[in-house]
Amino acid sequence: MHPFLAACRCLPTDYTPVWVMRQAGRYLPEYRALRARYSFLELCRTPDAAAEVTLLPVDRLGVDAAILFADILLVVEPLEVGLEFSKGEGPVIRRPIRSGADVDKLPERDPADTVPFVFETVRRARAGLGGRVPLIGFAGAPFTVASYLVEGGASRDFLATKRLMLEDPGAWHALLGLLGRTTARYLTEQIKAGAEAVQLFDSWVGALAPDDYRSLVLPHTRALIQALPAGVPVIHFGTGASGLLEAMREAGGDVIGLDWRIDLGSAWARLGAGVGVQGNLDPAALFASPPEIRRRVGGILERAGRRPGHVFNLGHGVLPETPVDHVRAMVDAVHELSARGRAP
Ligand code: CP3
Repeated sequence: MHPFLAACRCLPTDYTPVWVMRQAGRYLPEYRALRARYSFLELCRTPDAAAEVTLLPVDRLGVDAAILFADILLVVEPLEVGLEFSKGEGPVIRRPIRSGADVDKLPERDPADTVPFVFETVRRARAGLGGRVPLIGFAGAPFTVASYLVEGGASRDFLATKRLMLEDPGAWHALLGLLGRTTARYLTEQIKAGAEAVQLFDSWVGALAPDDYRSLVLPHTRALIQALPAGVPVIHFGTGASGLLEAMREAGGDVIGLDWRIDLGSAWARLGAGVGVQGNLDPAALFASPPEIRRRVGGILERAGRRPGHVFNLGHGVLPETPVDHVRAMVDAVHELSARGRAP
């Protein structure tokens, strides 16, 4: 059995497990109802409500793991950079980090003290799950979190980030070092609180040239992954990262998360047999009819060749307008089409 599946003891082995990213996103009416009562940050800071959101997709969708309800940017909120989640805009950092002097001013704070509500959410979600499916914790990888801090929000070309990298490599390494150490502590606390696997999101790393990834990012991601407790599976995910797969594997992770821009079979061949893969249906494919969704699920399972170590997932988060019954149709199709040892 693949080590990832073996370590996640409550994952099924007689079919391909499936979960989705942003499974508790805005496409779920129950989530939207909670959001009418709480702002996004309030919801994250209220462990009972955040644990409830964490559990929602398990019953609603029949997925094989629950994903902690939190955000990759919670860990930078205590750095006093003015984090806000404004409507329509996504996350915004009001006081972005643009220079070595800005980096020097950043405090290095322990997440155990600054975001204890996240770990309380993990404990309550674990209790609520009662062992039905494993709980996956997560964090942003140093590059992706740094890109939000430097850009001040989402970006197309990541120019401010790349300028800091190139104009002041010392400041860049200091920033990624700080984020890497903080994130290692943050994930370790999630694991201590009960997370059974963790996913590291390097969502925007595909913006980088391979040489820059290797010299300016990989050492920090690798140090972070190496600092985590042994025996807890790590999923390492990037988008648009087809040019970086081998380097991401070197940085670490038991499973590499793929987006939909690459053929899963050839990506796995490049990565090698000793690592699992997660992916990789285009989130937009969920707007197709359920029979077409089923056909596409079948195509991905075929490319994975029924090898254990494949976790079915979307190539990125569920889009807010996605019909819930189409997400459910995808989950059911994965379970039915991948069932081993049963009549097809
Ligand atoms: O699967 C889950 O629902 C778990 C929770 C989760 C959230 N964010 C909740 C969230 C996870 C795993 C994340 C990760 C995250 N956050 C990433 C990495 C994954 C990815 O998508 O690449 C990134 C880059 C972020 C930063 C972030 N937070 C963005 C870009 C946005 C909003 C963008 C938009 O579409 O407006 C958020 C807000 C956010 N995080 C929401 C949720 C459910 C929506 C908030 C709302 O209710 O308004």
